[in-house]
Amino acid sequence: MAGPLSGHAAETLALRKLAADKGLLYGTTISAQQVTGDPRFVDLVLQQAGLVVAENDMKWQVMNRGGRGDDDYGPADTVAAFALENDLALRGHNLLWYHRTPSWFFDLATRQEQEQAIVDRIQQLAGRYRGMVHSWDVVNEPIEPKDGRSDGLRTGVFLETLGPEYLDLAYRVARETDPTARLVVNEYDVEFDTSEQEARRTVLLKLLERMRRSGTPLDAVGIQAHLSSIGGPPFSASRLRGFLGDLAGLGLTIQITELDVTDEDAPADRAVRDRLVADAYSRFLDVALDEPAVKMVVTWGLSDRHSWIVRHETHESKWRDDGAPSRPLPFDADLKAKPACEAIARAFANAPRRASG
Ligand code: XIL
Repeated sequence: MAGPLSGHAAETLALRKLAADKGLLYGTTISAQQVTGDPRFVDLVLQQAGLVVAENDMKWQVMNRGGRGDDDYGPADTVAAFALENDLALRGHNLLWYHRTPSWFFDLATRQEQEQAIVDRIQQLAGRYRGMVHSWDVVNEPIEPKDGRSDGLRTGVFLETLGPEYLDLAYRVARETDPTARLVVNEYDVEFDTSEQEARRTVLLKLLERMRRSGTPLDAVGIQAHLSSIGGPPFSASRLRGFLGDLAGLGLTIQITELDVTDEDAPADRAVRDRLVADAYSRFLDVALDEPAVKMVVTWGLSDRHSWIVRHETHESKWRDDGAPSRPLPFDADLKAKPACEAIARAFANAPRRASG
């Protein structure tokens, strides 16, 4: 596809600049270990990204290795300081996530104890970085229609004792603690054209509407967008377009928060695989960026050398049967731009300009 970028070497492009020209913020995950241990990768991040998010270092269970009251802020501080020193926007990921809640929380028997633990967690973490955070994923992945509730909320950890109001509590405390951070509900599996994902979209919209109606502070919705090149669920441009329009209709901004593309079912041939991955980025972004409420695109990593889809010790793909290393991100493991990078660059260049947010 010819576009305004043909003729340019992708290496010379800075995604952050192409995004910023359209009022978009482009960013990537990073970790404290990468900040201190991978200077070449850090250079690439500084060249390409206008925002960073800690991939794991701010997750509750990850910080709380030593039991209640014994949180390690070291790695989170490293990531926050890196953002501050380099004038990068910082996403906070995340204050509460069912999947990374410390085990002691599950032993708290009463409503009061659980509420206190949630309030402490939010005040401590969001308070520490007050004024520094562009947006916080306050509750990560709050819905699960398969759990069978009529409101589609995920059962288990927070809901069991506290009921749906745990969400309102969390967002209120987050707002009080850091009034300048945009507050986000972040969700996955709402991008594709399946009945399962349609049910998730319906439930997510209901939750967001309910929060808006009850005056719960909320600014944005995060669409994770973990995509597949081939072999994944079917994609419908009009479905996605309609859903993003519905979200925008609630007065929320939209952030694409964890974009990456698996190549687990793609042929082994690298060039073919890279093309299929790039096409999946294009397909998704061309629709998403048409919606002016979309203000941010974050890829879940920048280089294949640091991706949750690749097992780093062995450099094998977690999900490919043939064990070949996956190539899900814009830059390869040697930090060279791939067709995926050009696809993202082209989508930014072709996107309508919007007010930043
Ligand atoms: C993933 C990280 O990338 C992995 O390193 C970790 O082992 C598990 O979590 N949705 C999210 C992210 O909101 O926090 C997850 O990140 C990926 C799915």
